Amino acid sequence: MTLAQQAATDVAAKAGGPKYIIFIQQKGGAGKSTMAVNVSAVQGRSSLLQNDIEDAAVIAAGIDPQGSLETWADRVPEEVLPFDYFVTKGKVGELSGFRNDPARRRINVDTPGFMEIDPDAAWGEDPLGESRVADALREVLELADLAVVPITPEWLSWNPAEFTIERILKPRGIPFVVVINLHDPRDGDTALDAVKKWIDERGYPRMADPIRKYKIHAHAAENGLTVMQYRESGTALRAREDFMNLALVIEQML
Ligand SMILES: Nc1ncnc2c1ncn2[C@@H]1O[C@H](COP(=O)(O)OP(=O)(O)OP(=O)(O)O)[C@@H](O)[C@H]1O
Ligand SMILES: [Mg+2]
Repeated sequence: MTLAQQAATDVAAKAGGPKYIIFIQQKGGAGKSTMAVNVSAVQGRSSLLQNDIEDAAVIAAGIDPQGSLETWADRVPEEVLPFDYFVTKGKVGELSGFRNDPARRRINVDTPGFMEIDPDAAWGEDPLGESRVADALREVLELADLAVVPITPEWLSWNPAEFTIERILKPRGIPFVVVINLHDPRDGDTALDAVKKWIDERGYPRMADPIRKYKIHAHAAENGLTVMQYRESGTALRAREDFMNLALVIEQML
């Protein structure tokens, strides 16, 4: 081990084990996977431990049995991937293994939507029900230091966000932040202001600015790109700024 590696390991050990950040929202399509991958890319690029040791300081983890995260990360050339990725394919007990790994600083967990919930669960009871996905979710909820709840200006995502916060996160005492995604800058601010108002009325902490909707994001997965690799352009810079902003908010919340 070089001196630099030793110093990095000492810093990590002093700070304790890694922090787990989960991206969670009952409704699909609000941006959990997009956020988990891009926040990992931003954190990975600014990590103290980058290039110093074999195990990256940042892990993007997926518990989705479909493994959408893996499909994405597999397409990113390894030499530019600033984080490790890890998929459990729904298997329980694997992610907790990083708890005491001094090399790891941030573990960003992408979760699947969970539309199947127990309709009979009483208020205050766990509504996740019995399934592979539910078990995998319960494990990461146990580990979570912070939850990021994506919401969109589209009204359909609001109730599931509230459900996620009131029925899943609050009963477990997990700190959370709501992040507005898919704001189309060409649409003006009416829909954006409405969703901000809805969040603020509930007293939920939220990221001040939204993550904007850009076409380059929609093609990123198939092209194996994170925001750190977008070809330089005005849009690419704005897109990257949004996720750097999110990564900073997360650091402030931890
Ligand atoms: N800011 C954005 N701008 C443009 N497209 C976006 C943005 N965020 C997400 N998308 C696109 O929207 C779709 C849904 O996003 P994503 O897959 O991240 O959502 P998800 O919450 O992980 O959904 P699921 O619950 O189905 O896993 C994807 O095609 C993604 O590329
Ligand atoms: Mg997803």
